[in-house]
Amino acid sequence: MEDIKIMLMTIEHIEEVMNIEKLCFPNPWSEKALIQEIEYNQLARYRIITHGDEVIAFGGMWLIMDEAHITNIAVHPDYRGQGIGDLLLRALIEVAEREGIFQLTLEVRPSNYPAIQLYYKYGFEVVGRRKGYYEDDGEDALVMWKKGV
Ligand SMILES: CC(C)(COP(=O)(O)OP(=O)(O)OC[C@H]1O[C@@H](n2cnc3c(N)ncnc32)[C@H](O)[C@@H]1OP(=O)(O)O)[C@@H](O)C(=O)NCCC(=O)NCCS
Repeated sequence: MEDIKIMLMTIEHIEEVMNIEKLCFPNPWSEKALIQEIEYNQLARYRIITHGDEVIAFGGMWLIMDEAHITNIAVHPDYRGQGIGDLLLRALIEVAEREGIFQLTLEVRPSNYPAIQLYYKYGFEVVGRRKGYYEDDGEDALVMWKKGV
């Protein structure tokens, strides 16, 4: 795909990011929570991917001590299966590594096969399970870690 860019997520992207969030998750973050992340959370690092003028994906993490906690990775449904999620995850890993952080963690639904495959591809491993983690339906979460480069 041409005209793809990775950029810092800012307040002006909120509306499009919220749209992707709603299309991707049963329990989307509120606009207020996202604004909080961008404007006030010093630990947060968020990136968007654009196609032309359109925001087609976003993702972010919190850098806590020597660990990066990925909070969100989402690709607009119309743009999946074209390497965008790959690009996004790689970008987040690079942001963390540039800040000297080589351990990354996240939670994912066991039913989310595409996401789990993406994380395996980048060296994440399942290390645990949180029972009934997701509030909307009580599904467990797999806890995945990527340790070292
Ligand atoms: C998970 C998600 C981010 C993947 O984004 P994507 O742009 O479709 O993924 P890509 O095309 O970049 O594929 C990258 C890798 O992901 C995995 N993958 C993506 N789609 C897949 C599918 N349908 N089945 C199996 N593996 C898949 C593969 O490992 C793939 O690598 P490969 O092409 O070398 O096999 C996307 O499906 C999404 O936004 N889902 C909804 C939100 C979500 O669940 N986020 C994760 C929360 S933990």
